[in-house]
Amino acid sequence: MTRVAVVGATGAVGRVMLELLHQRAFPADEIVLFASARSAGTELGGRTVQLLDENADLSGFDIALFSAGAGTSKMWASRFVDQGAVVIDNSSAFRRDPSVPLVVSEVNPHALRHHHGLIANPNCSTMQLMVALAPIHRAVGIERLIVSTYQSVSGTGKAAVQELDAQARADLDGVPMPAPELYPDHIAFNVIGAAGNFAEGDDHTDEERKMMFETRKILEDESIGIAVTCVRVPVRVSHSEAVNLQTREPIGPDRVRELLADAPGIILEHVPSPLRAAGRDEVFVGRIRRDDSHPRALSMWVVSDNLRKGAATNAVQIAELVAADRAGSPVS
Ligand SMILES: NC(=O)c1ccc[n+]([C@@H]2O[C@H](COP(=O)([O-])OP(=O)(O)OC[C@H]3O[C@@H](n4cnc5c(N)ncnc54)[C@H](OP(=O)(O)O)[C@@H]3O)[C@@H](O)[C@H]2O)c1
Repeated sequence: MTRVAVVGATGAVGRVMLELLHQRAFPADEIVLFASARSAGTELGGRTVQLLDENADLSGFDIALFSAGAGTSKMWASRFVDQGAVVIDNSSAFRRDPSVPLVVSEVNPHALRHHHGLIANPNCSTMQLMVALAPIHRAVGIERLIVSTYQSVSGTGKAAVQELDAQARADLDGVPMPAPELYPDHIAFNVIGAAGNFAEGDDHTDEERKMMFETRKILEDESIGIAVTCVRVPVRVSHSEAVNLQTREPIGPDRVRELLADAPGIILEHVPSPLRAAGRDEVFVGRIRRDDSHPRALSMWVVSDNLRKGAATNAVQIAELVAADRAGSPVS
């Protein structure tokens, strides 16, 4: 009997995880949904949402999928682990912990062999970048990356989608837009040149720092130079990234296209778009071209649904590997 807990089930990522568990026929006999007091007691997909508090019964779970923010993960993940569950966490709470594997299912599933009950899912912008870059890194090595992101509002959660919609509706109706609540400026018909938050004394945002740290951890290469600018754009779903990469050995655009065409989870297109990527599990890569300013540099455009491969799909793919491992087919 396999029991799965979904913590943060009512959120932007949680709802997609539930859909995917169903669509991918995840071998669960029971799925229990947890959220905060805001939605405990409501119905979701025929199940009643449970309140995650001191009275909650955390026993008997095989897998717990967390997407309820870093604070909730820090408070509750270890309690599920202590009761025997493997926790797959979407938040940033444990990604920097050297004892916690940070896994992209197509890139470094081998890291799962060393988990101690906790597995971290990377940040959504890093996730899609890793799927696109790992085949190139394996073939010729990556020396330096320059990435500019164009991140959708659903990356901030369900409330941010409502904020974009409310501002856009007001402006189209010719009335003043409601004041920004989640972002430092209006997001409708605008671009915010710093996605994430600035820590005291840092001139990079936490989103930018996550991409730098997580890329090196997942590709297992501390020597990669990375410059990142994370930007928020008025798109509901799917993050886009303009990527410039300098390789260690020379490689041309045609060979890169061949490598990516053979790699799992990638679709090559001329110019991928966030609208077309929304609702899809793959990472879309296009505009692969030589950067004439350097003999070993290339540019490309990488787009993926941040709620799917950027979060829920990868978490469920890891859950499938963990379930197979528990059933006696260990990760190779
Ligand atoms: N959105 C993305 O693209 C993305 C990508 C990768 C990773 N993540 C990470 O995934 C997590 C969730 O993101 P999201 O975008 O889904 O956020 P969201 O739409 O705001 O949803 C948050 C979820 O967490 C629940 N929650 C909040 N506080 C809780 C508490 N104290 N106890 C139990 N449940 C609680 C909420 O329940 P209520 O309904 O009761 O409020 C809701 O289900 C975050 O850590 C985020 O960084 C998000």
